[in-house]
Amino acid sequence: MLKRFTVSMEEDLLDDFDSFTKERHYQNRSEALRDLIRSRIIEKEWKADKEVMGVISLVYDHHQHGLQEKVTELQHHFHHQIVSTTHVHMDHDNCLEVIIVHGKAGSVRKLADSLIALRGVRNGNLAMSSTGKDLH
Ligand code: NI
Repeated sequence: MLKRFTVSMEEDLLDDFDSFTKERHYQNRSEALRDLIRSRIIEKEWKADKEVMGVISLVYDHHQHGLQEKVTELQHHFHHQIVSTTHVHMDHDNCLEVIIVHGKAGSVRKLADSLIALRGVRNGNLAMSSTGKDLH
């Protein structure tokens, strides 16, 4: 059920919020605020080591000696945390690997950190998401 409530804030802060809402293409303040609240709830799920979902992305040069093997080895070691992996050969040298992960936040983060820290990984990122079960 949708409930309404009134929020008071300084004019400058409201201006900032309206700019945010516009820049992110939200239809209205309510949808922008709901998403902001949900992202804080997701942060809490990760901090509390709850069951989460996430996406790890890696950009690396496959010529880097032994790197491809290490990326594969780590994924086998953490196979319970992995839902799927997509590998894109972007050009002659560069690969993009996108790994959808789930499980306890701590183990998912450990996998992401281990992959991102590998020598030769030029860019790595963990997008923290949620199973959606506790999101409304
Ligand atoms: Ni490749």
